Amino acid sequence: MDFKIFINFLIILNILYSAYAIRWLSLQRSHLAWNSLENSGGRGIRSGVKSPCSVARRRYGFAKLQTKLCRNSLETMPYVQSAAQMASETCKVIFEDRRWNCSSIDTAPSLTPDLLRATREQAFVYAISSAALTFSMARACANGGLYHCACSSPPKDPPMGNFKWGGCGDNVKWGTDFAKRFVDAVEKHNTKKAPDKTDGAMKNYIAAVNLHNNKIGRKVVSESLITQCKCHGVSGSCSIKTCWRGIPAMKEIGQRLLRKFTNAKEIQKGYMIVENDVPEVPGRRSVSDQFVYLTKSPDYCTRDDKLGSLGTVGRKCNVTSNGTDSCRQLCCGRGYRTVVEEKIERCQCKYYYCCYVKCKTCRTLTQTHECS
Ligand SMILES: *[C@@H]1O[C@H](CO)[C@@H](O)[C@H](O)[C@H]1NC(C)=O
Ligand SMILES: *[C@@H]1O[C@H](CO)[C@@H](O)[C@H](O)[C@H]1NC(C)=O
Ligand SMILES: *[C@@H]1O[C@H](CO)[C@@H](O)[C@H](O)[C@H]1NC(C)=O
Repeated sequence: MDFKIFINFLIILNILYSAYAIRWLSLQRSHLAWNSLENSGGRGIRSGVKSPCSVARRRYGFAKLQTKLCRNSLETMPYVQSAAQMASETCKVIFEDRRWNCSSIDTAPSLTPDLLRATREQAFVYAISSAALTFSMARACANGGLYHCACSSPPKDPPMGNFKWGGCGDNVKWGTDFAKRFVDAVEKHNTKKAPDKTDGAMKNYIAAVNLHNNKIGRKVVSESLITQCKCHGVSGSCSIKTCWRGIPAMKEIGQRLLRKFTNAKEIQKGYMIVENDVPEVPGRRSVSDQFVYLTKSPDYCTRDDKLGSLGTVGRKCNVTSNGTDSCRQLCCGRGYRTVVEEKIERCQCKYYYCCYVKCKTCRTLTQTHECS
């Protein structure tokens, strides 16, 4: 075995797991007004109005612990919501040109099997959600949006170069702690009343895999920090420069996670991942830096609802490319249709004195290709 294993310790500890910690991604489409009942002291039953946290529980898939966290720290929730948007948008951009294009994230709070059976795609979605939460909170701290955190303190090491540490660093530590509480806690302690047929042991394996991939998502954020600077001095002369450690764009985090996706490792049921405390076997890689998955993914070529595959019929493909968006790869050898679209536009517009504009009508033909 080239990864660190331990058998069923989770079951021995008798922790019941659920694998639904990403349902909150449904917040990407919500219009909840988080501040509406800030001081009503919780459920809002007395006032006859539902608190946003109760709505989040009922409609947006918040688990019990997430709802509790919502009630205890409502101020963080708008940033949870923007994390959901960030995770979803970034996942879709990264996978835009592929057979599996992350569109299934939109069915949250109910989830399709591609995001339930501990697949490689699920690993990506868990990791990017956890990363986006870390990002969103770390930035919120730095921007002064939260009471309980502020900018990160500057690095201990003296600056390498002609600048001083200053400004305001993204508080990745606080962000990481929050993300841990919000996503991991659900996997760890939620009760087992999930309405599906997955048996308890399998659920535990899936939860352990989710936890591992969550952790990698957070780690990628803290490992991708870059030094960002601001110039001061007379008329922007940059005679004084202050720098801080900040998170790069979410797209960059997504690209790093895509590399992890490509190198993801399949592990066997019955084995559990033990983080950190086992020495490395020389010449072999441990899984502590890799995504892991339990279930092989389908090729996503044809529709199969049982596997959560939408198929690629009707997807737009690129005839000149030879990458994942090429018609050859995207259409899985079924071929494609060429669709000619005629566009009628106003063109060659001229301004006449005074005061009108006259245009001609132009027709342009564009070709697109769609998988059969
Ligand atoms: C993603 O793929 C699905 C299924 O193939 C398709 O219906 C959808 O339009 C695609 N989304 C985008 C943005 O291309
Ligand atoms: C198709 O792929 C080629 C080569 O990768 C690229 O230059 C071109 O912009 C792509 N076309 C579209 C419509 O995306
Ligand atoms: C496409 O194929 C050509 C030749 O086989 C290769 O040189 C080129 O790098 C490929 N482009 C992509 C985007 O994979």
